[in-house]
Amino acid sequence: MLVTGATGGVGSAAVAIASAQGYAVAAVTGKAAAHAWLRQLGAGTVLARDELSPAGDSKPLRKQLWAGAIDPVGGAALPALLGSLRYGGAVALSGLTGGAEFAATVFPFILRGVSLLGIDSVYCPQPLRRELWQLLAADWKPQRSELLLDRELGLDELPQAFRSLLQGEARGRMLLRLSGDD
Ligand SMILES: NC(=O)c1ccc[n+]([C@@H]2O[C@H](COP(=O)([O-])OP(=O)(O)OC[C@H]3O[C@@H](n4cnc5c(N)ncnc54)[C@H](OP(=O)(O)O)[C@@H]3O)[C@@H](O)[C@H]2O)c1
Repeated sequence: MLVTGATGGVGSAAVAIASAQGYAVAAVTGKAAAHAWLRQLGAGTVLARDELSPAGDSKPLRKQLWAGAIDPVGGAALPALLGSLRYGGAVALSGLTGGAEFAATVFPFILRGVSLLGIDSVYCPQPLRRELWQLLAADWKPQRSELLLDRELGLDELPQAFRSLLQGEARGRMLLRLSGDD
């Protein structure tokens, strides 16, 4: 199972959950310093971003490597991801940190039967939401959830936190304290 944007809020939880479910997880990251942390979360393999989509390589079909992918990044690397899914595999696409647009061919869909699954958490129907929350509170609960929390912060620290997100320096999740001393 491939996870892109692996050090991000979505990606890091996906690495932890998928590995706890028994998947062999390959994590894709742009942060060389985060490889050891991703392995602690459960990634068996860690890939640099340019390994997923080497510059100048636009082949629509590649070696079949991944049974599935969790992709919060989207953008220009998505066609390479679709082209390296195994026959019948699927990408769950939830985000756009790598860009909102992509240009792909139909070949992975019509020759390998792959699927591109859109993920929306905002209008997700309540019954499905409850089902997923139950799983997240039980079978899918990451065993080392403390690793996913980068730090707690107060409202006054938000501008700095947003800067670190925009500069691609954040890792995991931040917990915002809404009450207390600040
Ligand atoms: N569809 C929905 O319902 C839904 C729900 C929640 C979030 N989202 C979207 O999902 C995306 C990810 O959310 P998140 O909370 O995980 O965000 P995040 O914590 O900011 O993580 C995004 C990760 O993407 C990677 N990344 C950043 N810039 C990149 C670039 N230019 N090219 C390739 N990779 C890049 C980085 O990981 P590495 O450094 O490890 O590569 C970063 O940690 C966002 O676009 C968010 O809006 C959608």
